[in-house]
Amino acid sequence: MAIHFDAKKKTFHLQANDTSYVMEIVRDGYLLHLYWGRKIHDFNYSNEIQLVDRGFSGNPYKEDRTFSLDTLPQEYPQFGNTDYRKPAYQVQLENGSTISDLRYESHIIRKGKPGLQGLPATYVEDDNEAETLEIVMRDALTNLKVVLCYTVFEQFNVITRSVKFLNEGTESLNLLRALSVSVDFRDADFDFMHLHGGHVKEGHIERQPLRHGVQSIESARGGSSHQHNPFMALLRKGADEHTGDVYGFSFVYSGNFLAQAEVDQFNNTRATMGINPFNFNWKLEPGETFQTPEAVMVFSSTGLGGMSRTFHELYRTRLTRGMYKEQERPILVNNWEATYFDFNADKILDIAKTGQELGIELMVLDDGWFKKRNSDHSSLGDWFVDTEKLPNGLEDLASQVTDLGMKFGLWFEPEMISVDSDLYREHPDWCLHVPGRNRSESRNQLVLDFSRADVCEEITKRVCAILESVPISYVKWDMNRSMTEVGSALLPADRQKETAHRYMLGLYNVMETITSRFPEILFESCSGGGGRFDPGMLYYMPQTWTSDNTDAISRLKIQYGTSMVYPIISMGAHVSAVPNHQVDRITSLAMRGDVAMSGNLGYELDLTKLTEDEKIAVTAQVARYKEIRELIQFGEFYRLKSPFEGNETAWLFANKDKTEVIVYLFRELAEANAAIGSVRLTGIDTTKKYTLLGTDKIYGGDELTYAGLSIPIEMKGDFQSHVWHFKAL
Ligand code: DGJ
Repeated sequence: MAIHFDAKKKTFHLQANDTSYVMEIVRDGYLLHLYWGRKIHDFNYSNEIQLVDRGFSGNPYKEDRTFSLDTLPQEYPQFGNTDYRKPAYQVQLENGSTISDLRYESHIIRKGKPGLQGLPATYVEDDNEAETLEIVMRDALTNLKVVLCYTVFEQFNVITRSVKFLNEGTESLNLLRALSVSVDFRDADFDFMHLHGGHVKEGHIERQPLRHGVQSIESARGGSSHQHNPFMALLRKGADEHTGDVYGFSFVYSGNFLAQAEVDQFNNTRATMGINPFNFNWKLEPGETFQTPEAVMVFSSTGLGGMSRTFHELYRTRLTRGMYKEQERPILVNNWEATYFDFNADKILDIAKTGQELGIELMVLDDGWFKKRNSDHSSLGDWFVDTEKLPNGLEDLASQVTDLGMKFGLWFEPEMISVDSDLYREHPDWCLHVPGRNRSESRNQLVLDFSRADVCEEITKRVCAILESVPISYVKWDMNRSMTEVGSALLPADRQKETAHRYMLGLYNVMETITSRFPEILFESCSGGGGRFDPGMLYYMPQTWTSDNTDAISRLKIQYGTSMVYPIISMGAHVSAVPNHQVDRITSLAMRGDVAMSGNLGYELDLTKLTEDEKIAVTAQVARYKEIRELIQFGEFYRLKSPFEGNETAWLFANKDKTEVIVYLFRELAEANAAIGSVRLTGIDTTKKYTLLGTDKIYGGDELTYAGLSIPIEMKGDFQSHVWHFKAL
């Protein structure tokens, strides 16, 4: 049993693999949070809440000045009736008031995990894998029912949470705020860590001590964003990559979000996460419900590394779906950086033929294959083949590629519309817009209003028509701008602030329809690289283009940061040409290969322009990746040296039984008279003996772990990489 309710003490004790989470119902149904952390077998209130009369913290009960919601750890906090910290939700009544008062009403515990209607979420394959607790709270005055839903995965240190609002009253309500998770910790001895960045610089790690007040990250861009990933971690002081307690929060959503920590006057920390309340409102008529997306909480007592491996395993096996979940992913060549918009069928075929000779398995035709799309100024929405570039059609090109023994993939940007397109000329009101206001363009394009069913239907029809008529094995689903003038022509005035979330629901519905209609197609999501690298997307599409930055050195930070949450198999990583198109840097083919092979490998350059020597090198890379692909894509990932902390980066892949291990080391700049460094391994079996492949050397796992490997002095010059490959004897 993972969830225990003690009727006498009125406590809920949730026990995941090595984690406990405890709540208590007190007085007239207030739900308090008591504990989250390492597993405790019997919870007996050693950390009892001390009730103290505090000045300026009001009291719901006149006669008891020691009871204030301001000073108590709340489970799903509300504002306006003595708690002054940021609430988890807020509801406006018809009379304009924004006070509500949720109290415990009932609960049920059941096996398994129910899905979330219309939303992505983690799942179980067997009901015995998890237990779910639903706590019903009610506001007596409005009859608003709020169901707090917790699922405990027994084999992971994972608890997922979501909230459902049901208006069972007679007046209409406005949800001003509806977060998915809130946890009140009773101290503030944490660092706040998150991933920030921008286009071509995603996944940068930032960590700072919590301070009093509110610290938050968010997106108000319509997508989860390059700027802040929907993830935060609270790290105990001293916790690092390998040791210490870490609390990770990840949001299974691809739109606007908020992740926040607030430290109050008594050094309590409130961590919250959910749909960004900024510019959000949801009208809840009597009888209507609102379901929040899911938040995933991971507890790790083995530092950030332990947290990441839990996220990796959970997201790879219980978030992504479909036949590719368990399959090694094909090595692809994408023509984007090779040709941009300047290609024809012969050029694509030439690249494919060369790719086939080198062992590459999939040819992806990127942007520019449809009607008059010769630059980024036109044609989005007109998903009909451009017969000038491809006179014999897409089907012919795809067939020629498949005749080579390769698979064929195609790029789409279904959510967008160019002003210069037939679709826009026919339906100028189909984009997000606000009457009388400018329609701000970004990359010369507008965003289709996916909150509208008619728009979603037409785009689904157009995309499916291509997928039905062409032998396509892979789709890259792109999205290349942030949203502006977010309004919908079909929604009434009092529902305009629902547009952004309705867009996500429409998008998820389209993705569900298309991906289930074509289960044999491998889908990769993209938003100018990692602008929507989030768990919501991974539910529909099991891999994501990590960044439009393909420079090997920039990629060290991007991939290292992205690996905090996302499995390696989900991270598209390509070898591109030098000088690199984003940063002009020249790095060796070997280094580019090693960085890209540390993810889901592809090539993105004009293969026909490679020299004979380069072709030999690429053939060897491709062959090698095929040998190690299972280990890279399904193994465990250990970060050894951080690119955010020095000149060297190192990471390690180990299979489950630790019989095969690959270590990658990268050095950015050469240093004069440099110290001889070493890399100490983690994640291997200290009791095993390992052969270093390609040599006759044998080392004990203990030696590799405690003494480590010396960094070879042959690594000379800038931008170097080195690989050690071990097999257990
Ligand atoms: C942005 C993507 O991230 C690129 O890889 C490429 O597909 C372009 N869009 C095409 O417009």
